[in-house]
Amino acid sequence: MTADEQALAPHVRPLAKKTLSRQLVVRVTALVALLTVVLSLFTSLASFQILQRELDNRLEVAASRPFHGNSDGSAPGDLTGSGLIRIDTYQSTTVLTSSLTLSNEALTELMALTPGATAVTVNVDGVGLYRVLVRDYPSYTLVALPMTEVTSPLTSQIVMALVLTMATILAAYLATRRVVEASLRPLNRLTATATQVSNLPLERGEGQVPIRVAERDTDPVNEVGRVGLAFNHMLDNVENALAARHRSETKVRQFVADASHELRNPLASIRGYAELTRRSSETLPEDAAYALSRIESESDRMSALVEDLLLLARLDSQPTLELQPVDVTEMVLNAVSDARAADSTHEWALDLTEDVITASADPHRLHQVVANLLANARTHTPAGTQVTAALRAAEGFAAISVTDNGPGVPAEIQDKVFERFTRADASRVRQAGGSSTGLGLAIVSAVVRAHGGTVTLESEPGHTCFTVRIPLAAQNQPS
Ligand SMILES: Nc1ncnc2c1ncn2[C@@H]1O[C@H](COP(=O)(O)OP(=O)(O)O)[C@@H](O)[C@H]1O
Ligand SMILES: [Mg+2]
Repeated sequence: MTADEQALAPHVRPLAKKTLSRQLVVRVTALVALLTVVLSLFTSLASFQILQRELDNRLEVAASRPFHGNSDGSAPGDLTGSGLIRIDTYQSTTVLTSSLTLSNEALTELMALTPGATAVTVNVDGVGLYRVLVRDYPSYTLVALPMTEVTSPLTSQIVMALVLTMATILAAYLATRRVVEASLRPLNRLTATATQVSNLPLERGEGQVPIRVAERDTDPVNEVGRVGLAFNHMLDNVENALAARHRSETKVRQFVADASHELRNPLASIRGYAELTRRSSETLPEDAAYALSRIESESDRMSALVEDLLLLARLDSQPTLELQPVDVTEMVLNAVSDARAADSTHEWALDLTEDVITASADPHRLHQVVANLLANARTHTPAGTQVTAALRAAEGFAAISVTDNGPGVPAEIQDKVFERFTRADASRVRQAGGSSTGLGLAIVSAVVRAHGGTVTLESEPGHTCFTVRIPLAAQNQPS
């Protein structure tokens, strides 16, 4: 799997880092957490104020109740058990009413408070926080109630709020996770479909795109559904475009095949008449004889071109060959001896192995491949160049290589040397003998591809090597 394919893989782990689902879950949960915490804080604050106001009201009630000066020293009214502290100045004596024993410091501290309309909170020495209300009308009265009346219900409320906050955050996390996963599922299915489409070999075949987003993911009301719908429209469009391209390609191919075919007969006539003229009258003027020989050689060249075009058109329209086990060793041997017979100005060498190598191939086409490579080594290199044809079997392929120590394939055409009509500049071609069409290597490439093989080129001045790899025949495969 390449990195790209991995990135496209539809099965992203739920809540994996950087995923949209994780971002959504984290953000929603964080928002809910923030809201609940703020809400709890506000409720606690409000409760504190309500409880304190209640306490203050009780203090008001207690302060406005007249002091009866119980002789037994017990607290007045029904506030006995509530921890009330009361200090009154009664007939110029100060009376303390309290169920607690207060230290002298505490008493001094309390007596030092200035009378006022509202209660204040005081940390009374030895007994803790108290809410104190001091009145000096109609007589001095101090009432105080413990702040625990406020803090203890508040504490339990805060504990409760904390527990509820935690529970809410947990619930929010679980719920958003479920909802997000469910909502993103159609998007994941869409990704899976897109991945499948991206793996289709669209450059070949008739351009059918047999994959579509399922109907349930193409609801135009839903956002993801709209993406799905648009995606399907896009695929329809792509399919139509590919089909149109395929049709026009087929037409062009058919035209080339027909045209080549139609050119064969007139060419044969031209060649025939030229030959007839040359034979019938030996006393042709010199320039006419030259023109005649040019007509013959050019019509030969054109015939070769037409044959090459026809072969390419056939390979295009029917890229499968009838494969059979072919003794490649013998084939290379024959091709090299043909080349040696055709040209003795080059040095021809063979590099074969002991074993006979058998490939699964079309014998005529494969022979043509090797012959084309050898012809190139002959026509595109100067006399005296060494050409070596080697054959090896490796990794399920028969590797045929043709190496020469000529000037090399010009760097500017190396990238496209297997394309049709690619050849070095015209002057070199004419030097090379004039039979150059620029189709030889295109044929090599098409034939090799039809065999399920590959062809590669390495070339620099002094070393040019074309290597063709063709699948070995079953009997040649190591068992
Ligand atoms: N062995 C070689 N050495 C140098 N140049 C080469 C060799 N083989 C091919 N070429 C270059 O590649 C071009 C394309 O080759 P090919 O397709 O066979 O066309 P053609 O031989 O008809 O020109 C040639 O024109 C030539 O410039
Ligand atoms: Mg050639």
